[in-house]
Amino acid sequence: MKVLIIGGGGREHAIAKSVAMSKHVDKIYCAPGNAGIGQIAECVNIGVMEFDKLVQFAKEKEIDFTIVGPDDPLVAGAVDAFEAAGLRAFGPRKNAAIIEGSKAFSKDLMKKYNIPTAAYETFTNPEDATAYLETCKFPIVLKADGLALGKGVLICNTKEEAKDGVQSLMLDKQFGHAGDRIVIEEFMTGREVSVLCFCDGTTIKPMTSAQDHKRAGDGDTGLNTGGMGTFSPSPFYTEDIDAFCKEHIYQPTMDAMKAEGRDFVGILFCGLMLTEDGPKVLEYNARFGDPEAQVVLPRMKNDIIEVMQACMDHKLSEVELEFEDNAAVCVVLASNGYPLAYEKGFVIEGLEEVDKKEGYYVFHAGTKQTEQGIVTNGGRVLGVTAKGATLKEARNNAYEATKLVSFENKYMRNDIGKAIDEA
Ligand code: AMP
Ligand code: GLY
Repeated sequence: MKVLIIGGGGREHAIAKSVAMSKHVDKIYCAPGNAGIGQIAECVNIGVMEFDKLVQFAKEKEIDFTIVGPDDPLVAGAVDAFEAAGLRAFGPRKNAAIIEGSKAFSKDLMKKYNIPTAAYETFTNPEDATAYLETCKFPIVLKADGLALGKGVLICNTKEEAKDGVQSLMLDKQFGHAGDRIVIEEFMTGREVSVLCFCDGTTIKPMTSAQDHKRAGDGDTGLNTGGMGTFSPSPFYTEDIDAFCKEHIYQPTMDAMKAEGRDFVGILFCGLMLTEDGPKVLEYNARFGDPEAQVVLPRMKNDIIEVMQACMDHKLSEVELEFEDNAAVCVVLASNGYPLAYEKGFVIEGLEEVDKKEGYYVFHAGTKQTEQGIVTNGGRVLGVTAKGATLKEARNNAYEATKLVSFENKYMRNDIGKAIDEA
């Protein structure tokens, strides 16, 4: 079959590598893709939000199956656009992707269906939000309702900081209309874990767990980023916690969406915090995580196309998800200066050194093929993933592998997976 993948980051490269291993797939297209994806797929220069062009391309090329990677097109209804044209596309429809597209929606859903999450209030008026802050304990968390590139969350230590936060989200519109409505919620503490789940609308099956490192600097300092590295599995996500989450979070979320007439088919990403009072939902995403996919998918034994088709055919209950009994660590190689200003266009050396080693992967994020070779073309440039028998071994392997790849301006965190030592 012919598969089209929509997106062009490290996550889509990880999806493409898994799709390339499916016995059902003869040809992969990716829109827009990147230099790494271009080695296993034919990249087409169509943007992820250009639904008319994407649908037209899929019809012309007789694509059998489309996978939508990023949040923006899912939330804007990419899957609905494909379905309206009689095409099969994997991912939640617009009415279900709202679970990521609106934090107020997801918080209200959790409240209505008793799914554990932080206490909160929602505001559309900045005066009311500011007045409410007078009654709060600090720190407190402010969240823009809409999509904000993962940056719409402000943790405020004092009332003054929180008032400034309301100003920048709701009045200065730092994230545009995403801040027309905000959620103010209780600050929680604990370890974070990401659990990505396949969903068919009724059945939900969690994949192996992972943990992301969102801050730019070592020791979780500096600005929030799209993610600087991941490890999988999380040693803190025990069997008891898994059992609790299945009973109180995953299945109830699936059932809640169904009860609301918003059947969720696709990947549900549960961002959890393991608090003293048990696991609670920090956020939902309607897609694979980036860079969570880069450590979870290389460990999956199933044929990804078979699992995705089972989701779309509402037969996920017949599938047994299987993961390798090992570990993986992904270290993101970024351009120095990310997530603010950085230079790009530097030639990258050593990529094939990593690729040719068994159990090692280089997932491209911001790269471009030029006459000089593959060059840096974004803030997050590459994700270097390595497997190992244990998390520590995987971490050592991943950091060894980062030495093989060089480009001017290369920046990475040196403590990805450090938490493993405390397990
Ligand atoms: P989100 O985009 O909602 O996952 O938030 C981004 C990050 O902000 C999370 O990964 C947490 O580190 C942090 N965060 C979000 N909500 C809370 C909360 N209620 N308490 C503490 N930290 C939070
Ligand atoms: N790594 C976090 C995310 O994909 O949202």
